[in-house]
Amino acid sequence: MVELSGVRKTYGDVTALRDAELVIRRGELLAVVGPSGSGKSTMLNIMGTLDRPTAGTVRIDGHDIDHLSDRELSALRAGTIGFVFQQFHLAPGIPALDSVADGLLYSGRPRAERRSLAERALRRVGLGHRLHHEPHQLSGGEKQRVAIARAVLGDPPLLLADEPTGALDSRSGLVVMELLHELHRAGTTVVVITHDRDIAASLPREVRIRDGWIEHDSDGAGPALAAGPDGDGALAPAPVSAALTAGEAVR
Ligand SMILES: Nc1ncnc2c1ncn2[C@@H]1O[C@H](COP(=O)(O)OP(=O)(O)OP(=O)(O)O)[C@@H](O)[C@H]1O
Ligand SMILES: [Mg+2]
Repeated sequence: MVELSGVRKTYGDVTALRDAELVIRRGELLAVVGPSGSGKSTMLNIMGTLDRPTAGTVRIDGHDIDHLSDRELSALRAGTIGFVFQQFHLAPGIPALDSVADGLLYSGRPRAERRSLAERALRRVGLGHRLHHEPHQLSGGEKQRVAIARAVLGDPPLLLADEPTGALDSRSGLVVMELLHELHRAGTTVVVITHDRDIAASLPREVRIRDGWIEHDSDGAGPALAAGPDGDGALAPAPVSAALTAGEAVR
């Protein structure tokens, strides 16, 4: 889904990303963690084709973005990538349904269809009862769920989330993370930047960045203790005692 090869990004004399090598397979769910200023958002923006690298190769869904014009890149982005940010970026005074439906404004679909797809997306994130609420009438967690509904409206295969729980209390954060897990189970490739160690450790793969370097990549094996015996990176392998009990039951 995403392939970074020798990717470097400099801003003037600041090197935000150095020789990044990263392959994200279709259907993965991974965390990107690291201290403030380490290059996480820079990497996500490059994966999201919002920014081009200074050097190196970026492939998104098989396309080398270096070979695409800005116009082709916008089209690739519109059809392939959904974004979620820490600050929800919902326009004040606009009801949830319109906020989400506006994401399809340039899709060529008629208004009624845009609204019915938006309603479906809002129901998918559990907000069927908040369709006509404006941002100031929604809780932080609800606002983030509206933003997620907007991001997944066109069913993009890749969802990039930059600190999606950063502005939320821990309970709303859990609801948002559960939603991202659900999208992942439905087949979406999900990349989550987070400062939260528990969240990072709960995801099947963790990529750690420091000073622009990828210093660690658990590469699908999951946190040391979490890999299932079949190597599928299961989040919580059954405790040994449960496995024994199950074995006994079979005998
Ligand atoms: N547009 C820019 N111009 C100049 N420097 C930039 C720009 N964007 C980022 N930087 C610098 O690049 C480095 C990496 O920034 P980045 O935003 O990727 O960090 P981050 O890991 O996302 O941090 P945080 O956790 O605080 O969001 C920082 O030193 C930052 O100051
Ligand atoms: Mg950042």
